[in-house]
Amino acid sequence: MTSPISSTSQTDKSPLRLLWMASAWAFVVAAGAGVLFRWGMVGGFGEVLTAAHIRHGHSHLMLMGWATPALMALMAARWPGQGGRRIDRSVCLVGWTAWVLAFLSFPAFLIWGYQSVPVGSADLPIAAILSGLAIFSWYGFAAVYFGAHRGVKRTPAMRLWDLAVVALVVSSAGAWGVAGLMMAGVDSALWESVTVHFFVDLFGGGWLVLGALGVIRSYVKYGDSTNQQVGRWLVGASVAFVFLIGLPRSYVDESWFVLGSMAAGLLAAGLFLVIQPIWHHLDRWWWRVGLFFAATVAMLAALAIPPLAEWGLRAGLRLFYLHWVFAGVVTMALVVGAYRQWGAQAVNTPWSWLAAVAALLLTMLPMTGLWPAELGGIWTVYCVLVGAVAATVIVTAELIGLLGARFAERSSR
Ligand code: HEM
Repeated sequence: MTSPISSTSQTDKSPLRLLWMASAWAFVVAAGAGVLFRWGMVGGFGEVLTAAHIRHGHSHLMLMGWATPALMALMAARWPGQGGRRIDRSVCLVGWTAWVLAFLSFPAFLIWGYQSVPVGSADLPIAAILSGLAIFSWYGFAAVYFGAHRGVKRTPAMRLWDLAVVALVVSSAGAWGVAGLMMAGVDSALWESVTVHFFVDLFGGGWLVLGALGVIRSYVKYGDSTNQQVGRWLVGASVAFVFLIGLPRSYVDESWFVLGSMAAGLLAAGLFLVIQPIWHHLDRWWWRVGLFFAATVAMLAALAIPPLAEWGLRAGLRLFYLHWVFAGVVTMALVVGAYRQWGAQAVNTPWSWLAAVAALLLTMLPMTGLWPAELGGIWTVYCVLVGAVAATVIVTAELIGLLGARFAERSSR
């Protein structure tokens, strides 16, 4: 039945736990940039910072400094229990490389965004170069992952991770596409949009979501079934095409949008078939994360109906959906996974993280078309600011509390 396999199976000294903790601090810093963005909406952005640059800084650090190294650490901590070879050192090498590059590119994104800046006699897009280098750490992780699993009989969790790691590698084609367009000086809004959406959607929906689902699956002792196999095939066949929905309608033909809608429907069906059989085997915390997953499946299914998808885009639900997936599904899965793996050495209580995610998402709602227009107004801008501050303060307090507990424990030894 249910199966929290271990709660504090690795000790204090686990290098993977340290990598996870460092990534959690990246969450706090990136969330701070989110606050800065919201603050700028109220009080203006001043001379140095712009909304676009802060958004780039925030989203890069969240995806590359928080979610990616934290997922690498958790997967590596879980895979020996699935039959994979333990190679913590190599995972730490690539995970820390990704983390350091994310932190180095963060100030560069804040100040310059993707712009080139004079370095000696050349003009270089510093932030793009640093984040481009990080892609090699993903390839490193893929090599380590497949090396650790060579010849190993696949469990359901591993099959999801296989898909996730392939999505990570394939999504990088979008990132290289963005860089290639910049270097070639191609000024095409269509191709820029195609490469960016392909990258972000496959990286998020493929690597992060499927990787997180694999972590959940690794806690459930329940065998494979035809439903789950069909589900994984559907996921694998569709996840790379959902990005077509997000392309600006002025650039692309209606048929691209319909294709994207169909892909979203297949992805929803696939995820449903993977999640439904394990639903009754989830413990309380995984079940709460499962609710975020279930709502994501429902939203993807809604995207399969083109008029509904169009309405959602017009109603400004894209940003809300992204945060639902990244903060609700991915972040909560990483937090509950760390709590189950390392206990209070990594997460004091998942409640604090859940409170932060709830504050973020609930305060975003009034800015969307789900909120009645007659109840809107300038207060909604203050509302998202309060939500962003609350979320940041709650997670900062949780992490400082953990540090305090570690120091107290050390000094009492
Ligand atoms: C305390 C938590 C968070 C806060 C306060 C926050 C805040 C923000 C803000 C203010 C924006 C810009 C909104 C706009 O363009 O109008 C944004 C965008 C974004 N955020 Fe977050 N966010 C949080 C959590 C996350 C997490 C956990 C992730 C991913 C792991 C994430 C990924 C992104 C991405 C990718 C974008 C860019 C969206 C786009 O350009 O379409 N955020 N966030």
